[in-house]
Formats: sequence, C-alpha cells, structure tokens
Amino acid sequence: MTGKAFYVTTPIYYPNDVPHIGHAYTTVLADVLARWYRLNGYDVFFLTGTDEHGLKLQRAAEKVGKTPKEFVDSMVPVFKKYWSLLEIEYSRFIRTTDPDHEELVKKVFQRLYEKGYVYKGSYSGWYCVSCEKFYSEGEYVEQGGQKLCPIHGKPLEWVEEETYFLRLSAVQDEVLKIIESGGTVFPEAYAREVVGRIRKEGLKDVSVARPKTRVYWGVELPFDRDFVAYVWIDALLNYLTGIGFMRDDDSFQKYWPEAHHIIGKDILWFHSAIWFSVLRMLGLDPPKRLIVHAYIVNRGLKMGKSTGNVVMIDDLLERYKSADAVRYLLMRLLNLEKDVEFDQSLLDSIYNGELADTYGNLVRRAGVLALRKLGGRVPRADPDPGLAELASSTIKRVAELIAEVKVSEALTATFDLLREANSYMNRTEPWALDDPTRPLYNTLEALRVATNLLYPVMPVTSELVSRAFGFQLFPPAELAFGQVEEYRVAEAPILFQKVK
Ligand code: ME8
Ligand code: MG
Repeated sequence: MTGKAFYVTTPIYYPNDVPHIGHAYTTVLADVLARWYRLNGYDVFFLTGTDEHGLKLQRAAEKVGKTPKEFVDSMVPVFKKYWSLLEIEYSRFIRTTDPDHEELVKKVFQRLYEKGYVYKGSYSGWYCVSCEKFYSEGEYVEQGGQKLCPIHGKPLEWVEEETYFLRLSAVQDEVLKIIESGGTVFPEAYAREVVGRIRKEGLKDVSVARPKTRVYWGVELPFDRDFVAYVWIDALLNYLTGIGFMRDDDSFQKYWPEAHHIIGKDILWFHSAIWFSVLRMLGLDPPKRLIVHAYIVNRGLKMGKSTGNVVMIDDLLERYKSADAVRYLLMRLLNLEKDVEFDQSLLDSIYNGELADTYGNLVRRAGVLALRKLGGRVPRADPDPGLAELASSTIKRVAELIAEVKVSEALTATFDLLREANSYMNRTEPWALDDPTRPLYNTLEALRVATNLLYPVMPVTSELVSRAFGFQLFPPAELAFGQVEEYRVAEAPILFQKVK
C-alpha cells in the first residue's frame, strides 16, 4: 500500500421508511467511487448508515406501536438488504444509536459547551418534522391560513421552548472564507448558492437541543440531562465517529484529510454552513470535498416518501434482473447540477440499446467466434492502430471524468469504445476469414479495456466477463491495449436479456 487513502460517505438515511431509488442514486455513486479508488490501490473507507434519533422517528415508531429502538432495529436490516442486493460494499454501516457514536456526540457537545459555543436560550418558530428543521417567514408556504413546509407541503408545527443555541455567528467569517475560496463544495454552483445565502441572512445561531418533555428519543446532553441533542448535529457527527474521532487517532488522521461527502442538494445547507461551522469549532478542517447532486424527479416533483411518488429499488431490480443493470442505469442518469426525470421508457431504451445490444452483443459475438473458429485460444496479434489509440485515450479520459465525478460521461466514453469495437468487427468480418486471429484479438482487447473501465459501475458483469474470457482486471493506470498475451475463452455468456 502506498499510503494513499480515500474516505467516502453517503448521508445517513432516516429509517422511517424503506429506501427508494433516490437513496440508491447516492449510495451507488459512493460505491462506484469507492471501487474506483480501491481498484487504483487506495486504502478506502466507505461509510453509510442510518439517522435514527429525533421526532420524526419517535413518531414513526409510535404510529406502529413500537418503541423507537424496536422500530429502528426492525428497519436497519431492510437497508442492509437493499445495499447488499445492489452490491454496495461499505466499510461500516453506522447507526446513530451505536454506543461509540452516542459517546462521541456527548463528548463533542461537552467540548463545544466548554469552549463557549453552546449557550442557553429560548426559541419559538415553525417546525417541519419531516425535515427536522425550523422555517422562518418567507421560507414557508402560506395556504388557506396554514403554514406549509416548502419541501413536504405538510403543515408546520408551532414550537416555543427553552433550548441551547450553537454560536454559528462566531465562525461565520471563517466558514464563509472556506466556502468562497472554492474547491470544497462541488460543483461550484452550489458553493455560490451557500455563499449567497450567508451573505444575505448571515449565519444565525441555531437551536441544537430539544427538551426531553417533547423529544425523548435522542442523545442526552452531558451538561443538562433535561435535553437531547438536535438530531441534525447528532447525525452530522457520524462522519467523525465512523473513522474513529477521539477513539482511534491513526485511523482518523489517515482518513479525515481525504473525506468526500456525497449528498443530495436538499441537505446542502446542513452539510456546508452548519457542518463546516461545527468542524471549525472543533479545530478540524472541512472535508476535502462535498459532492452535491440534484434530484431524481417524478412527474415534476422530487421523488420522496412524503410526496408519494417513489419508485422502489425492487421495481428496477425486477425489471432489469440484475444489480449491475440498475447501477448502470442510475449512473447513466447521474447529474450533479440538473434534476433528472424518472422515465421508464428512456431507461428501457438505454438498457436495450447499450447493455443488451452494444455490450452484451459484442461479448456474445466475440466469444462465440473465438470458440468456434479458434477453439477459444486467441494469441496476441498486431494492434489495429485506430482501435488501440481510441482505447488508450478512453482509459485516460475515463480517469479524468471520474475525478470530476462525471460518471455518466465516463460511461458514455466507455460505450463509444464499445460501439467502435462493434463496427470494427463488422468492417473486418472475422467470421469470413480463414485466420481471424488479428480482428478477434483486437476486438477482445477493446472489450477487455471497456470491461475494466466498467468495473466500478458493473462489478459482477466485469468479473463474469473476465472469467469467461480468461483475463485479469487491472487498475486503470496499468491498463494498456495489447498487453494480453493470449486469450483463453471458456464461454460466450449472454449478459443482458432485452426488455419489452
Ligand atoms: O436527509 N433524488 O435523510 P433522508 C436524489 N437523515 N437523491 C435523493 C432523492 C431524490 N429524489 N431522495 C432521497 C436525511 N435522496 C438525513 C441525512 S446526513 C448527516 C443526515 C437521497 O432519508 C439524497 O442523497 O431524507 C438525499 O440527500 C438523501 O437521500 C436524503 O435522505
Ligand atoms: Mg429527506
């Protein structure tokens, strides 16, 4: 190991309901980056999990007649099941009810209190339980004399109580400087959005405690046992617990400087303004990168449990039959900047056109010909200059695109190589030749390069093809056209069955 590390996180999701394809969108992206960096020899830590405290979970549990702990205990296996079905390989699944996390939350609150960043006060305002946050005038929607949440459209609740505040105003200038200087919040447009809001409203102190009389389901504050920690501060700290902050210094020192948080734009403010402030107060650097993506929308609205327009992970798994296909389709749609509409017929045509017709068909044709004409043994032959050059430039291009989190573009670039390999085969007609070694070798090399590059998105398929054709998967940096001495094709698998 060269000492290179990579730390990637997803949001920890609310387990009040089962995850849907919006959650899968983020989690698959995190897994793709984790696999890419692992393949490149990095020491990767990939953290995901569940956000289990707070009023939202307390009520979800009450609704089904369970204690909050019983309820979340019943939901966690559901999340783990879906991540396993989607071939998500996390390093740790963190729960905010894990003892090491609860301990860390207490330690952090104690430290912030001692440093004078936490002070007592009283608060009143309009609260959305689905968001677990307060909305001020101008932010909420007024309808028929009611105040509604701008995201969930549900009535807000009036809350008036004693609380503790976090003195964000004390670190405003430093946090603003971090976000403004660029490179952390990614893509840059999201940084500008946050900077604009801080400049307009200022970083106001936020309420970070709830009286136990109202919210009993949370981590007790060490300096006042009548209160629990606000669920958002509790949740954000998972990123520190996961890699051993205040518990395992080596691990923390290794991973924190390489932290990459991936989130949807709904929780941008918490992960920038608020999170960077907490880190500042603790004397910690901001994450290396906060990667923000836009929404999957359905019939024009953000797909969400509260909106009632979700597409389930099962729906896609049943339709396309494999985790790899679902991962591919989600990553093909990925857009950090723009919302993408869920469109079943578009997904069908991508699946049929790219996975079945382009990739699947090429694997099948090349495999069958190698078996039939050469008994499966295809030795090295002169490289086709055009194909070799396209393969080399694709390897380079894909690495650059992944570094920019342009996964969809990376897939398109890889499929350009596959499309070219298909037409190369059509042009050279190996089936009509007495000795088809050269065109077959070149086709297989292009296929192998593409299969390697597809590994982070389609790990099962890549491994299957590499076994069937008898080649190894390489780190992209060591991948080169023409490096295989001899193929030993054992079978010609059918990878994807078309959908109608
Ligand atoms: O916010 N499109 O949890 P959550 C794209 N517990 N991404 C989507 C999406 C959609 N339609 N729907 C959900 C919480 N997501 C907190 C997080 S972290 C310290 C605490 C994804 O269950 C996206 O990543 O509401 C979004 O940010 C996240 O799920 C919200 O999950
Ligand atoms: Mg949400």
